[in-house]
Amino acid sequence: MRKKGVFAIAAALTCGAALNPAIPLFAADLRAAHDNFAAQCAKCHGDSGRGDGPAGAALPVRPRNFADCTRMSKESDDRIFNTIKGGGASVGLSKEMPPWSEAFDDDEIRQLVTYVRQFCSAQRANK
Ligand code: HEC
Repeated sequence: MRKKGVFAIAAALTCGAALNPAIPLFAADLRAAHDNFAAQCAKCHGDSGRGDGPAGAALPVRPRNFADCTRMSKESDDRIFNTIKGGGASVGLSKEMPPWSEAFDDDEIRQLVTYVRQFCSAQRANK
């Protein structure tokens, strides 16, 4: 009986790792972040976070590919938070990345950080 329980937990964890943005398993917070991202960020960063949004294609510095885990693992959550809040220019990145402090409060920005992070885990699960 005990073994079965452990197996069930392992199975649940495996399914959790395969979490796909297309499957509406998000907590309410992430759902809001998803909507905010789709409305404000996807035009540059792309719906799948790969930096392939239509408005991003024309920029001199292409928007960051959030599914690039190697690249994104170099950035701390604080750094991502500050970039979103203060814009690219405030952290030495492209000024084409706008500041969002007027549009979103700190909680919403924190949720966007979490949302941006899941593009990397989503890609890992698909490998
Ligand atoms: C007008 C196009 C545009 C829009 C809209 C935009 N971004 Fe960006 N973003 C960029 C560009 C360009 C960069 C800089 C890429 C680089 O220098 O590597 C960037 C960089 C970033 C980074 C990288 C931060 C780091 O330190 O690695 C994050 C995170 C980010 N954007 C999140 C967002 C979020 C969240 C939104 C929506 C609220 C958003 N962006 C909207 C263009 C945009």
